Order: sequence, then structure tokens, then C-alpha cells
Amino acid sequence: MQHPKVSNEEMLQRIVRFKELTRPENAVPVMFIDSVLPGHQRMNWAVIGDTASENPDFKPAITAPHRFQIGVFMCPPNSGPAWHTHDYIELFMPLGGRWRFHWGSDPDGAKDGHADLEPFDMISMPPGVWRAFENVSDQAAFCFAVLEQHEVFASKDPYWGTQVIRQAAALGFAADDKGRMIKPPNYAEIEQQITASLVDWLTKTAALDRGS
Ligand SMILES: [Fe+2]
Repeated sequence: MQHPKVSNEEMLQRIVRFKELTRPENAVPVMFIDSVLPGHQRMNWAVIGDTASENPDFKPAITAPHRFQIGVFMCPPNSGPAWHTHDYIELFMPLGGRWRFHWGSDPDGAKDGHADLEPFDMISMPPGVWRAFENVSDQAAFCFAVLEQHEVFASKDPYWGTQVIRQAAALGFAADDKGRMIKPPNYAEIEQQITASLVDWLTKTAALDRGS
């Protein structure tokens, strides 16, 4: 084993301050095609690695290669990712609020079970299992995610449930075979509206006190 000498400057590149990370200007409010649907709006931050994203406009907070990927997201009450799955494990740990996680084996959304998680509880979703979850508390809340390493824009990722694909298509959103978002002509307008609403929730989130 080698024991490299690491400068302060290098180590500072490997520190993520939550208050800095979660500033609205670092967020991706429309990271996925479901992010524009009612009940599924949320803000995402890529912390380590390429995360899971259908929108290439994300910048990981730590750029050094890791063998796992980390993301953080904030959901308003009664909102969260729609029915989807991945080729890899996803682990979630709520940082606030109360979250209901659903799972199943049916792309049409029939649920086989659910569990409610509180802050610092964890749930590990197996590859291929359909899942959706939501913040069931009455305040916006953050959640932390660890993903197995995977290449971004290599294939469909996530795989969306049948209804999610249909609902997103009605708003002009789709994803290609490489998991890249196909945006409608009025994308900028939609993104602006969603961002405004989410920034409002973000500033109201009790967990955040940026001292400004
Ligand atoms: Fe996911």
C-alpha cells in the first residue's frame, strides 16, 4: 500500500459542505423525465460520480473517481421519484422528514409492498425491482443516495414505468436508448417554473440555515 502525501488543497477538493452543495444554483431541478410531473418534482445534486441522470447538466461536487456514486435530493411534501428501476443497487437514507418507499415487480405500477423510513434509516433497493417513493411529511426534506458504479448515458437509466413514460410524453418529454432526456421546445419555460417552486421549498426547509 502506498501512503501518498496529500496537500490541504487536494483534500479541500474532497470535502462537501452540505450548505454549499445544496445551494439552488448547484441543483438540477429537471434531472429526469418524471421531474416535470405533478407529485414527482424534486431537486437533485450530484455529489460523487455521474449519479443517475437523464439531463447532462449536472456537475459532481467531488470529481475524483470513486467506485460508487452519491447523490442528494430534496422533495417537497407528497413528492418523490416515480415508478422506475435500475440495473444497479440504490441505497437511500432520508436526512429529514418521513419517506414512504414502495416496491414491486410490475412495470405498470402494481405494488408488492412499502415501508416508511425516518431520518438515518436506510433501504437498499435491489437491481431490477420497480420502486417509487415520496416524502410523506408536511415539510420539504432531503434524502441521500448511494449507487453502485455505472456508466452514465450508456443505456436506458432509469427504466420508467409504463404510466410515467406516457405522462412524460404528454408534456413532450422522453428518454432515448442511451438514457438521455429528449426535451420539448418549451423546456426552458418548464424548467424555470419548476425551479421557482422548488427554490421556494428549499428556502423553507428547516434543515437549511445558510446564515444568509
Ligand atoms: Fe432511482
